[in-house]
Amino acid sequence: MFEPDPDRPPYEMEPAPQPPNLPGAVVVRPTVDELVDAVAADLFAQAKACVRAFGDFHLALSGGSTPEPLYKRLMYDPAYRELPWKRTHLWIVDERRVPEDDERSNFRMIRELIVEHSDIPPSQVHPTHAHEPDADIRYERELRETLAEREKGHDRLDFVLLGMGDDAHTASLFPRSRALREDERFYVANDGANVTPPDRVTMTFPLLNTARTLAVLVTGQKKRGTIARVARREGGVQDLPVLGLKPLAGELRWYLDEDACPRG
Ligand code: 6PG
Repeated sequence: MFEPDPDRPPYEMEPAPQPPNLPGAVVVRPTVDELVDAVAADLFAQAKACVRAFGDFHLALSGGSTPEPLYKRLMYDPAYRELPWKRTHLWIVDERRVPEDDERSNFRMIRELIVEHSDIPPSQVHPTHAHEPDADIRYERELRETLAEREKGHDRLDFVLLGMGDDAHTASLFPRSRALREDERFYVANDGANVTPPDRVTMTFPLLNTARTLAVLVTGQKKRGTIARVARREGGVQDLPVLGLKPLAGELRWYLDEDACPRG
C-alpha cells in the first residue's frame, strides 16, 4: 500500500489559475482556441436572440491582434454558419485615423476577415472613414440615427467586443486621455500626448455602457500583470480606463485564457 515518504515533498505543480476578481462575469478557458469558442458561442446566441426579438443585431468589433482568431473562427467553423449576418449591423469600436487600406486600419482587418466572406448587406456595414476630419461627428450621427430605428429601451448596441492594452486601455480610451472624460457624446476623436499614435476615433463610455453585452477578450501572459492591476483596482478610470466599463442595464463579461490569469 502507498505510504507517503515524509522526506520527499510532493512534486510542486504550478497552481491552476483562479478566475481573477474583475468587475463582471469572468470566463476562463485553458487555451485561446477554447476561449474563442466560448466567445463565439455567446455572440452567436446573442445574435439569434436579438434577431428573434428585434429583427436585427447590432454588433461592434474592435481591432488589435487578439480578436483575429475569433473573427476567423466565426467565418470558417460550421457551428457558426447560421450567424444572421443578413440581419446584422456591423460597427467599429475604434479606429486609427488612417486611410481604410492602411495596414493599421481596424476596418481593413474586419473587412478582410468578415465582411468579404459574409452575406452582410453593404448598407449594414459601418466603417468610420476615420481619416476624414469630421469622422467622429458623422459616425455619432449614423449610430444615433440607426439605433433610433429600434423601439425605445432597445436602441443600444447588442454585443460589443473589446480588447485591453498593456496600459489597461480599452477601445481607444487611453489612460488620462481626453476621451475618458466624455460624458455625453457616443463617438469622439482622441488625440494628444496620452494617445498612442496615430490619432484615433473611438466609442465612449456613454455609448459602451448602454450596451446589452460588453465582452472583453484578453489573452496571453503579456497581459497578466495588467489583469492583476485591474483585479486589485490599482487606480481609478484615469489610470485603468477599462474600469470605466460599467453597463447600466447590460452585462460585462471578461473572457480570459489561463495565460492571462494572475497566479496565486
Ligand atoms: C485597437 C483596439 C484596442 C485593442 C487593444 C488590445 O484598435 O487597437 O481596439 O483597444 O483592443 O489595444 O490590442 P491587442 O489585441 O493587439 O493586444
